[in-house]
Amino acid sequence: MRTAEIRRRWLDYFEQRDHTVVPSSSLISPDPSTLFVIAGMVPFIPYMLGQQTPPWQRATSVQKCVRTLDIEEVGKTTRHGTFFQMNGNFSFGDYFKEGAISYAWELVTGSQADGCYGFDPDKIWVTVYHDDDEAAALWKRIAGLPEERIQRRGKKDNYWTTGQPGPAGPCSEIYVDRGAQYGADGGPVVDEDRFLEIWNLVFMQYAIDDVRSKDEFRIVGDLKQKNIDTGMGLERVAYLLQGVDNLYEIDEVFPVITAAQELSGRRYGASRDDDVRMRVVADHVRSALMLIGDGISPSNEGRGYVLRRLLRRSVRAMRLLGVEDPALPHLFPASKDAMGQSYPELVTDFDRISRIAYAEEEAFRRTLVAGTTILDTAVAQIKRSGGLTLPGDQAFALHDTYGFPIDLTLEMAGEQGLTVDEKGFRELMTTQRERARADAKSKKGGQAASTAYRALREPGATDFTGYTELSTPSTVRGMLRDGAPVHAATEGDTVEVVLDRTPFYAESGGQDSDAGVITADGARLEVLDVQRPIKGLVVHTVRVVEGEITTGTDVLAQVDPEWRLGARQAHSGTHVVHAALREVLGPDALQAGSYNKPGYLRLDFAYNQALSPSARSEVEDVANRAIRKDLGVSWQYMSLPEAKAWGAIALFGETYDDQVRVVEIGGPWSRELCGGTHVDHSSQIGLIALTGESSVGSGSRRVEALVGLEAFHHLARERALVATLTDALKVRPEELPERVASVVARLRDAEKELAGLRQGRLLAGAGALADAAVVLGTTRTVAHDAGEVSSVDDLRALALDVRGRMGQDAAVVALGGIVKDRPVVLVATNAPARDSGLRAGALAKTAAAVLGGGGGGKDDIAQGGGTDVTLLPAALAAVRDTVVTAGGGR
Ligand code: ALA
Repeated sequence: MRTAEIRRRWLDYFEQRDHTVVPSSSLISPDPSTLFVIAGMVPFIPYMLGQQTPPWQRATSVQKCVRTLDIEEVGKTTRHGTFFQMNGNFSFGDYFKEGAISYAWELVTGSQADGCYGFDPDKIWVTVYHDDDEAAALWKRIAGLPEERIQRRGKKDNYWTTGQPGPAGPCSEIYVDRGAQYGADGGPVVDEDRFLEIWNLVFMQYAIDDVRSKDEFRIVGDLKQKNIDTGMGLERVAYLLQGVDNLYEIDEVFPVITAAQELSGRRYGASRDDDVRMRVVADHVRSALMLIGDGISPSNEGRGYVLRRLLRRSVRAMRLLGVEDPALPHLFPASKDAMGQSYPELVTDFDRISRIAYAEEEAFRRTLVAGTTILDTAVAQIKRSGGLTLPGDQAFALHDTYGFPIDLTLEMAGEQGLTVDEKGFRELMTTQRERARADAKSKKGGQAASTAYRALREPGATDFTGYTELSTPSTVRGMLRDGAPVHAATEGDTVEVVLDRTPFYAESGGQDSDAGVITADGARLEVLDVQRPIKGLVVHTVRVVEGEITTGTDVLAQVDPEWRLGARQAHSGTHVVHAALREVLGPDALQAGSYNKPGYLRLDFAYNQALSPSARSEVEDVANRAIRKDLGVSWQYMSLPEAKAWGAIALFGETYDDQVRVVEIGGPWSRELCGGTHVDHSSQIGLIALTGESSVGSGSRRVEALVGLEAFHHLARERALVATLTDALKVRPEELPERVASVVARLRDAEKELAGLRQGRLLAGAGALADAAVVLGTTRTVAHDAGEVSSVDDLRALALDVRGRMGQDAAVVALGGIVKDRPVVLVATNAPARDSGLRAGALAKTAAAVLGGGGGGKDDIAQGGGTDVTLLPAALAAVRDTVVTAGGGR
């Protein structure tokens, strides 16, 4: 049975049983604390928690999910996929355990002729939470399962949570026995490979917080109503019903393996290593396709980084399969064809999707070239100095700076006979990870705060009045200091304040938070920051600058009108720049992130190359023309499908709300899903001046611009600068470029001439130095401190010149010098000296050891350095001593 058919049967089955079919949400998680949707229930969390009234009591969906926690397991087991689809049926206060179990049993074991899946009832095992007698009894009664095929397990296996504070509950899992050839008898408690879990029924009835692990969390209380959340792994059922061995071989995935076989000329099934690589490729390519389809572009953080990793791991796996040419242009179309039936937008959008993927492969290939050069240089250096190990920090730098995977470093170093200090590498990785984790934690605020926020949210969402007014009478609902509730705050305190209603815009959608004041009888609070830490709750961070404030006080919340005007200009300016970019560069130049505050905006967008100066000024021109046209700006609410049909650009995974806000500027020219505050007419933006354009990771660029008065001030500053230059150089503004070019050229010539003169003067002393050589043992030796010199090359030239004047006897020339405040010793030896065992490399090392640095080179000429210039005489003396020792006395 094809995967699309399994999916169709699922939706039909539940639709016929009064469930509303809800389309899959985007893969982007609606909850800012997680990156991706990890289960079918995620979009429904507010209904389960009772934060929102569900529009229906029964729903069903096939939800796209991404989990990357087990990315290293992909390809090695039968059932780990980074992308998967979860069939789900949901009840919000309608049916509970009995209903869920009856439906599941019927759909799993009912005949295929009747639209079900037709699994053999004798092969079905289930598990229930250890004290859930009710569920066990239901399985006996409804399914007639014998006692021994109903197994009981503890919290770790049979209590489901999202890993975050929220809804949770005991669960019951359905397993299919694949047969004795796959493992031991004894049910899922003994072997989860032979007994494959296909469906999890969660009896969602509790709210939890303080989640520390799978089985350590605190049950806060009952949910408003009892809910059902189930999840069937579509790919797992597909692999069982298609008679293949694992989820990489199903109809929606295997075509990529076929393409990988064709490209590599290797056969799937011939070697375990190659099989794993092909499965990794098949899994990752599909996940990347789906992620880009949902608007994610490769970058160095968050979701973009996950995507980048998936793409790079695919390319890397193909390399290990012997394919060095670009592979994605063969693999992506195969995945698109396999997934297109269920997700037609992949087909219509494939041009954009594939371009992003292929550009990332190109970038990674360049990385591989750059990294390889750096690795080769490092390896050569280590070998020259007799080392056998690539230090951990170098492996780490390759990984961190060039995105060079460690396994690649290991392999390539190994090919050259070197090992890698993997332990050192791992330690550096751990340090970095810990730092990142600490950062994330400090940003999120502790668990305590999130409990307190939820309590403050309890009476209802904050009423945001800021679209229509800047000043709103309100009441203090509560306050927090360091995450803990407080009743009062006085002058000098910094606290978080929650109001019933507020005109203050909380930072979101790229727009910075509003500034302003909250006043009450005798009290004045300066608003420092405004955030929405959980859905529906606006939190103002304030400093009490005057008086005292207590919970329950009536206040007046006032946004600074000047600030807000600037914020509106900047946010509308961002939409205008976005539309201008797409007009000039093409519709694929889609925004990937943005930030704006009064006077400033920045926008990251998908594009593969730097903007040419002419493209830059065209974008600026289009944007400013749009301002001059005085386009109307308006906004309205509509459903997501309506918004999409209207051509609105959805960027931020506004996947949940039934009604989305669409802001348009000049009609269809700019339509975006956006909650921000905007001007009424484009002319109010005033002026936009692009100030910068740069790369932010491969395939995405950033433009920065100043807006309104700030833009004017910027241009005025540049005019003043030009005036200063024309004054100084005594030319007209339009002659400036030519004049500067000629001044620079003359300066360069002068520097060259000066360097020549300096070297000439240095070399002029060569004869005298050679004449002053002393004979140590049998070796004529010069050990001289040349003082400040302009470059090491000058010193080298002098050393070679002196050596050339020393005649046929063994000779050593050691010259000290100070180059840019650092001591350097250059050592040159002639053939007779080398024959008697005096090698320049070893002598330079001797000098460097005294200088506290490193040294080395060839036998005939070498150099050493350090940091302390006062040690130069000692370093030269050390060279002299070595010559004496080697020469057998003086
Ligand atoms: N939410 C449950 C799961 O993901 C059904 O397993």
